[in-house]
Amino acid sequence: MLLQGRVCVIVGASSLRGIGYATAELFAQSGAKLVLVDLAMEDEIFSDIVKSIASNIGSEPTVAGLKCDITNLADCERVIAEAVARFGTIDCLVNCAGIVLAQSMLSIAEADYDRILDVNLKGTFNVCKSVLAIFAAKKCGVIVNLASVAAQRGGGLVGGAHYAASKGGVVSLTKTIAREFGPQGIRANVICPSMVETAMLDGNLSREKFDEIVAGIPLRRPGKPSDIAGACLFLASELSAYVTGATIDVNGGSHIH
Ligand SMILES: NC(=O)c1ccc[n+]([C@@H]2O[C@H](COP(=O)([O-])OP(=O)(O)OC[C@H]3O[C@@H](n4cnc5c(N)ncnc54)[C@H](O)[C@@H]3O)[C@@H](O)[C@H]2O)c1
Repeated sequence: MLLQGRVCVIVGASSLRGIGYATAELFAQSGAKLVLVDLAMEDEIFSDIVKSIASNIGSEPTVAGLKCDITNLADCERVIAEAVARFGTIDCLVNCAGIVLAQSMLSIAEADYDRILDVNLKGTFNVCKSVLAIFAAKKCGVIVNLASVAAQRGGGLVGGAHYAASKGGVVSLTKTIAREFGPQGIRANVICPSMVETAMLDGNLSREKFDEIVAGIPLRRPGKPSDIAGACLFLASELSAYVTGATIDVNGGSHIH
């Protein structure tokens, strides 16, 4: 199994319809021990997640669920310390937490801008920084960050300028981590999905716009959370041992460049 015994922290994993959950399920099936972190990780939600993973993979996962607001560095450091206390170490971090707002440039209020940048960019920075302290001490570790095709094409599908800019920041942040920590045996890569059917689309996309986007995708379908989870598994495992600083497109061919 590709992740046998590896301790994997997945941030943004509280929605059964989300990319974080799909990644958790695939990682559990691949032998990983999981730490699932989310602002919305309440006991009832966590219990539903554990039940769902167990019934889909046919065995009980080894998993902890921790609540955390990634915009707060101290909160990130607390959950990372809790993860280490629970499982002894951390081998892999997948950052799936994020928010989007479908807004045109001139309608973006300062508070909207601050909120999107705080969660998507500062939050990713906070979690990476907290985990890198552990990885640097043990001289190994893997980071997978979730950006978006919005960072590459300039928004315009679902998110506005603030979302695209925050995801551009995640791409740059990941490349910098790869360069700075590569000599210590630590890898960092970033995935740019296009439209994936998750709760993130709810209320941010009309049916007409959805159909219009699908019609323009060479593979003629939206992404599924499991499509992104597969790329996360590749990047988290030794299959990608010589891949770092890479931006991986998972977009059905919708942005070929
Ligand atoms: N769905 C898409 O079309 C799409 C496309 C490109 C990129 N992405 C990116 O993929 C990632 C996963 O998105 P998803 O589609 O699964 O959406 P999702 O809404 O299901 O998952 C995002 C999770 O982040 C959590 N979160 C939000 N703010 C947080 C905070 N302050 N602290 C901790 N957790 C917080 C939410 O509770 C949620 O569970 C996001 O980074 C998103 O930007 C999604």
